[in-house]
Amino acid sequence: MGEFAVHASGVTLAIGNNAILKDISFQLTNNETIVLMGKNGSGKTMMLKTIVGLFRPQKGTVTVFNRDIHKMKPEEADEVRKKIGYVFQKSGLFDSMRVGENVSFGIRRFQKISREEANAKAIEALRRSGLKDVEYRLPSELSGGMQKRAGIARAIAMDPELLLMDDPTAGLDPVLTDAIADLIIEIRETLHSSFIIVTHDLKLARKLADRIGLMVNGKLHGIVPTDEFMETEEPYYRQFREGLLTGPIPVIE
Ligand SMILES: Nc1ncnc2c1ncn2[C@@H]1O[C@H](COP(=O)(O)OP(=O)(O)O)[C@@H](O)[C@H]1O
Ligand SMILES: [Mg+2]
Repeated sequence: MGEFAVHASGVTLAIGNNAILKDISFQLTNNETIVLMGKNGSGKTMMLKTIVGLFRPQKGTVTVFNRDIHKMKPEEADEVRKKIGYVFQKSGLFDSMRVGENVSFGIRRFQKISREEANAKAIEALRRSGLKDVEYRLPSELSGGMQKRAGIARAIAMDPELLLMDDPTAGLDPVLTDAIADLIIEIRETLHSSFIIVTHDLKLARKLADRIGLMVNGKLHGIVPTDEFMETEEPYYRQFREGLLTGPIPVIE
């Protein structure tokens, strides 16, 4: 399996004339959790989308479990994607599909199993995500917290080895946020997966992260152990952590 779940090396991505990701390098070790923080528009979502192969960097490489998703045939890339669970920033559920179908969507696409088996797996993933008897509901019939959980259920339905979570607690109150944190810890203990979690929530970061990375304007300013992030006087980390208006990170670009 190799040592790294993700290895990004010099990743540079532009869309049109917009430089989005600038020479980003980092490694996510197997079983490690990295939390990615940074201002809106700093490139966190695009980094996750590049890792999963939705965007191709102009320069640099990303390997997932030592395989370069951007240099593979689509069928081969699907083999790698099977091992990745992605929680979208908005729940990413299809409005017109029932919750159960939403969760079994990936299973049915990737695994040659019967509809009944796929449904059973979906119900199990929902149960692990703390949801019961919701498979026949539409996403719009769930509360915000339940939609987030359903998005997580979909991501874990295939027992992924790598989980990419884009702001899994956005818009949730502190109690629900803590419940999602506990859920993520439980998933981590059962699946022994590696995680990259994007969040603005320092409490969540403190609870989950082995290391915290800070994105500033398309660059990865650095990745440091969680304790260091929380205590350092280094001006970028300190400004971000304390939400200061003055410091090296421009408030208005
Ligand atoms: N599909 C897209 N096409 C072009 N530019 C995009 C697209 N998605 C995001 N961007 C731009 O990429 C930059 C980084 O965005 P994003 O990764 O979404 O930031 P974050 O998740 O940190 O808030 C922003 O300047 C944004 O406008
Ligand atoms: Mg984002």
